[in-house]
Amino acid sequence: MNDILPEEAATWRLVENVVREVIESYGYREIRLPILERTEVFARAIGEVTDIVEKEMYSFMDRNDESLTMRPEGTAGMVRAGITNGLLHNQRQKLWTVGPMFRYEKPQKGRYRQFHQFDVEAMGYEGPDIDAELIILCARMWEKLGLGRLSLEINTLGTPDTRGKYRHELVKYFSAVKSQLDEDSIRRLEKNPLRILDSKNPDMQGVIAAAPVMIEHLDAKSTAHFDGLKSLLEKADVPYTVNPRLVRGLDYYNLTVFEWITDALGSQGAVCAGGRYDGLVEKLGGKATPAIGWAMGVERLVGLYEACGGKAGEQGADIYIVAVGDSAFDCAFVVAEDLRDRIPGRKVELNLGGGSFKSQLRRADRSGAAYAVILGEEEVARNEAGLKPLRSGEQQLNVALDKLAETVGTRLGN
Ligand code: HAM
Repeated sequence: MNDILPEEAATWRLVENVVREVIESYGYREIRLPILERTEVFARAIGEVTDIVEKEMYSFMDRNDESLTMRPEGTAGMVRAGITNGLLHNQRQKLWTVGPMFRYEKPQKGRYRQFHQFDVEAMGYEGPDIDAELIILCARMWEKLGLGRLSLEINTLGTPDTRGKYRHELVKYFSAVKSQLDEDSIRRLEKNPLRILDSKNPDMQGVIAAAPVMIEHLDAKSTAHFDGLKSLLEKADVPYTVNPRLVRGLDYYNLTVFEWITDALGSQGAVCAGGRYDGLVEKLGGKATPAIGWAMGVERLVGLYEACGGKAGEQGADIYIVAVGDSAFDCAFVVAEDLRDRIPGRKVELNLGGGSFKSQLRRADRSGAAYAVILGEEEVARNEAGLKPLRSGEQQLNVALDKLAETVGTRLGN
């Protein structure tokens, strides 16, 4: 779990603003959700036999002996909120949220125990038009952020029917090579064989590579949906690769799944990932509602932004007020509030804690301010302030206090 320090926060804010703007430009509306949910919401949505639910959740009993969990992802809570607030009754919803998520993972570069996700979900849409929109929206974000080194992988997990048949094929295959499976996979063989395909164990990769692939077992509906998506991506000029091994680590998916991957961040290359979850609303107690969405790791997005040469300058003060002497400080206190009122959008920093003229000017310089406003006993007696440009060759001048806001405002371009 990391602290995000001021110089990093500036880049986060820049990146987040672009993401927010693009998401909203497609008509998605913000929703803010609790960090805690009942544990069963995640267990039922993500699946009992998944890494997240089996090993990674921060769960605890509250004072009422109810098991609560700090959200490991956003989709389950979004669906729960849609159901409990009646947002899905004969309505379609395009929603987004952002915030911290928690997974007890082995920390490494790009993989943290508290991380942040933008989460975008569309409920009530059958697709594949919305599938394509959600993916194209990402491509627009990458472009706006000036990001390269991202590639798109897509796959289909088929309809539940197809998936059932494919599951059967998988069990048959993995049972025949059971002696080569690791402990986790043997346990998953009966309960959740698709998860075996998601194994990170290097010793398992050979067996997995030879397993049957879903894409060869698709029914007509799944094929039509997948073809529809591919054709819209092609129309939008968004290149993709079909990766038949892409199964995702959560159980709620069907049909479309996708990941945006980068090679710029080492082994944690998935920046944004998602897919369709047509059965989830019903599974959590709502009316059957088709749905699709994605989540993007903000740490990874910021990492990629920096790897591509991006960095936000931290914006310092615009005006720094230097005040030497008691009556000058009293005057400066009033002047500072007045400048904040009358030069909107500018940062006005008042020297606090006293100090000599020289040390206050040094602080003014370090603050990044374009101008120092200087108030000494003499200036105050004359109802004036000194205006000292700190970054340009302009001359220092004296300005009447009642003209100060106007004079500095104009010079700052307000
Ligand atoms: P996910 O693949 O588990 O999917 O996570 C989505 C993204 O969150 C990842 O691609 C990665 O960028 C980021 N992420 C995940 N775990 C970590 C971590 N420990 N540290 C840093 N970043 C991480 C989901 O969460 C689904 N809810 C996505 C979704 C939305 N599907 C449908 N709607």
